[in-house]
Amino acid sequence: MRVLVTGAAGHVAQQVLPALERRYEVRPVDLADGDLSDAAVARRAVTGVDAIVHLAGNPHPNSGWDSLLGPNVVAVANILTAAATTRVVLASSIHAVGQYPGHVDTQLPTAPCCAYGATKAFAEAAAYTHSYSSGGSAICLRLGACTPTPPARQALDHWLAPEDLQQLVIRALEAPVRFAIVHGVSANTGSHWSTANTIGYRPSRDSSPYRLEVGDDPQWAPCQGAD
Ligand SMILES: NC(=O)c1ccc[n+]([C@@H]2O[C@H](COP(=O)([O-])OP(=O)(O)OC[C@H]3O[C@@H](n4cnc5c(N)ncnc54)[C@H](O)[C@@H]3O)[C@@H](O)[C@H]2O)c1
Repeated sequence: MRVLVTGAAGHVAQQVLPALERRYEVRPVDLADGDLSDAAVARRAVTGVDAIVHLAGNPHPNSGWDSLLGPNVVAVANILTAAATTRVVLASSIHAVGQYPGHVDTQLPTAPCCAYGATKAFAEAAAYTHSYSSGGSAICLRLGACTPTPPARQALDHWLAPEDLQQLVIRALEAPVRFAIVHGVSANTGSHWSTANTIGYRPSRDSSPYRLEVGDDPQWAPCQGAD
């Protein structure tokens, strides 16, 4: 299978590319190859591939609309338009449902906690349209904190270990389903993020052994949820 990976120079892609390159013929692209908010660049990138892992984007939850619209809205629309009937795996975020204070499963409607989260809710909606109106298929991964080890106490709940990230993306590329939203978190003890899913993702790592090692870092706290 020929797989386009966008945002290939980024943090998430760097953790997942080795596993993808062992399994597929990978075409990595990043900004140096062109800005995906240009429709012609997106069309060129997807030409000849069987599936797309779309990781390019602005990953910063505290961003304003001016720096989100191009990478997180226009580029997503361009990739989905260019994808035609191709399987697309999209990087969403737990911020798409960041307003929920308690247990969150993927049946709940989106409830973004910030403009960044709203762009991810848009991406999920656009991916749904890609699946059911355009004849393609799409899997949206609501990624948690993608780091080699949990970066802070505030991230123990939504940490996604590299091995689980790799398994998640491979399942998302290969699952015989038309559309799915999956919480990209590990099997973290006490987490309020449900990992129930229809693509066969079975996380194996748990952040709890790191509980005593990690410090506080408010930067990793989710946005303020509604009371
Ligand atoms: N890192 C995390 O823990 C995390 C958590 C939740 C969701 N995500 C999502 O995963 C994706 C990847 O995140 P990351 O942490 O690797 O971010 P990153 O900033 O490290 O990498 C993103 C890459 O996308 C490229 N890019 C940005 N805009 C582009 C454009 N218009 N055209 C082409 N390339 C462009 C950048 O050059 C960069 O290399 C993002 O969509 C982010 O929202 C990441």
